Amino acid sequence: MCGIVGVTGNKDAVNILLNGLKKLEYRGYDSAGIYVNDQNGKDYLIKRKGNISHLINAVGPDVKGSTGIGHTRWATNGKVSVENAHPQFSQDNRFYLVHNGVIENYKELKNKYLKGVKFTSQTDTEVVVQLVDKFATTENLSTKQAFFKTLNLLNGSSYSFLLMDREHPDTLFVAKNKSPLLVGVGNDKTGNVVCSDSLAMLNITHDFIALKDGEVVTVKPHSIEIQNLAGDRVERKPFHVDMDASATDKGPYPYYMLKEINEQPNIMRKLSQEYLDVDGKPTVDPKIISAMKKADRLYIVGAGTSYHAGLIGKALFEKLVHIPTEVHISSEFAYSDALLSQRPFFIFLSQSGETADSRVVLNNINKDYDSLTITNVENSTLSREATYTMLLNAGPEISVASTKAYTAQIALEAILAKALGEAVGQTTAQNFDVKRELSLAANGMQAVIDDKDRIDQISKKYFVHANRAFYIGRGEDYYVSLENALKLKEISYIQAEGFASGELKHGTIALIEKGTPVFALITQKKTAALTRSNLEETESRGSKGLTVVRKALAQPGDDFIIPDMSELLTPLVSVIPAQLLAYYTTLNKGYNVDRPRNLAKSVTVE
Ligand code: F6R
Repeated sequence: MCGIVGVTGNKDAVNILLNGLKKLEYRGYDSAGIYVNDQNGKDYLIKRKGNISHLINAVGPDVKGSTGIGHTRWATNGKVSVENAHPQFSQDNRFYLVHNGVIENYKELKNKYLKGVKFTSQTDTEVVVQLVDKFATTENLSTKQAFFKTLNLLNGSSYSFLLMDREHPDTLFVAKNKSPLLVGVGNDKTGNVVCSDSLAMLNITHDFIALKDGEVVTVKPHSIEIQNLAGDRVERKPFHVDMDASATDKGPYPYYMLKEINEQPNIMRKLSQEYLDVDGKPTVDPKIISAMKKADRLYIVGAGTSYHAGLIGKALFEKLVHIPTEVHISSEFAYSDALLSQRPFFIFLSQSGETADSRVVLNNINKDYDSLTITNVENSTLSREATYTMLLNAGPEISVASTKAYTAQIALEAILAKALGEAVGQTTAQNFDVKRELSLAANGMQAVIDDKDRIDQISKKYFVHANRAFYIGRGEDYYVSLENALKLKEISYIQAEGFASGELKHGTIALIEKGTPVFALITQKKTAALTRSNLEETESRGSKGLTVVRKALAQPGDDFIIPDMSELLTPLVSVIPAQLLAYYTTLNKGYNVDRPRNLAKSVTVE
């Protein structure tokens, strides 16, 4: 959510910034901008509304420089406009600033310190850059002193900042609190870089320093100096990102979402290889298992799709480990004054590892309890701050709509539940052949993916012109229905609801009209007949019913048959038809699948 990049000491700064912003476009695409300085007194500020391509088209060959900063925006304060795009600048055009985060007390600061200052935007960010300028010019402070003074006034707001000063054109003044920021360590040829996500700079360096909250960094072409807000020097070694820059390419696919849906069968196989031995025994870090064994209750915390993966986790842990498990939406749990059990253990699910809502919960519990983050991003904030981490290793998920992270999270939860269940002597866990199940799931996923043309036809026939749609089921099928509905609504803008099928008749069935698609998941034996009759209740009121059914429960006329596999892991396959349905419906409606309106990936504000 807002992506920022910076580079110093590289003559190709403009291209490095633009390429970096392209890689970060998933973090926001309301507007984009760059500021570059060529060290010889020439500088350029270019900003455009809309996605990065508008900015790229606006940057002519005359725009050159060796130090610069760039930003792609997901609007918070101030509407989407060129004026509100970053970099923001001071009234005397000396300082330029890009920002990811929210300055909570910006109005107060503006009233207190900046009377008479000429503002050109409605952003909180402009207040910060004007403050630096005010302190530097009227109090005769050095840039660094003015920056520190300003940062100390921000009352713990969330920010990652890259500041440039025309009087020190080779220097990036960097600060971070709550929003993610990495410093990329380059060499004499490449210079040094700064970015919200290492993906942006993998063609410059693979070595990054992760900044902690309250740190300030001075980055020059040949030096990187980290300090805390008190001004003390901090030493930190970089970590290495072992990923090929091409992992972020779309390859032959028209959209990242389709690529990521297609990757899921292989991710299942990969997770099996990484976390299970040849006999199917989990190889989970024993420290994690021994910490979890002490718990009397598990608390799974996540947002959006990750929360939905947590719901499946509840079923897995309760059935395989027999441990009570609560699942919470992070933004709600953060302020809920929850009554915790005596010995809780927390599991954070987050593809990005950066979601601010989840991080608030982690901060709340961190000093008292152990926690595990299951994430796709090594060294992400939630990973660094939790006691333990398990990596999804699903490869970068770039499409805003999450697909492969959901199934990878479920697979890893299953492996963890198997490991913990065995460790506490549960026979259900001992008998659960997770290796075989993941292999069945991979094959089942592939079969649905191979059937995608039919899903495209179903989309055209029943979904493209629909105003609303329902996904229904019971138990695990209900949990998957929630995810299915989110997928459809967030990218195709069709209002969709995931519903417990038994609950429809208590009110919501009033919304069924002729042709309303109702998509039922029927994979659980105990509830199959009930869900079928709930679907029929909607069909007799005019709905178009569609079914995803586990083979043993199938009847003539069912639409998608998934393999007979453990009912615990059917969500891995039963979610795929709806992922593809959301994809094709969006495509058929002519929208950008990867960049839905109003959204951004990696939500780093509360
Ligand atoms: C939906 C989606 C979001 C994320 C949510 C949490 O397709 O992607 O709902 O799941 O913002 O993000 P992470 O998993 O990065 O914490």
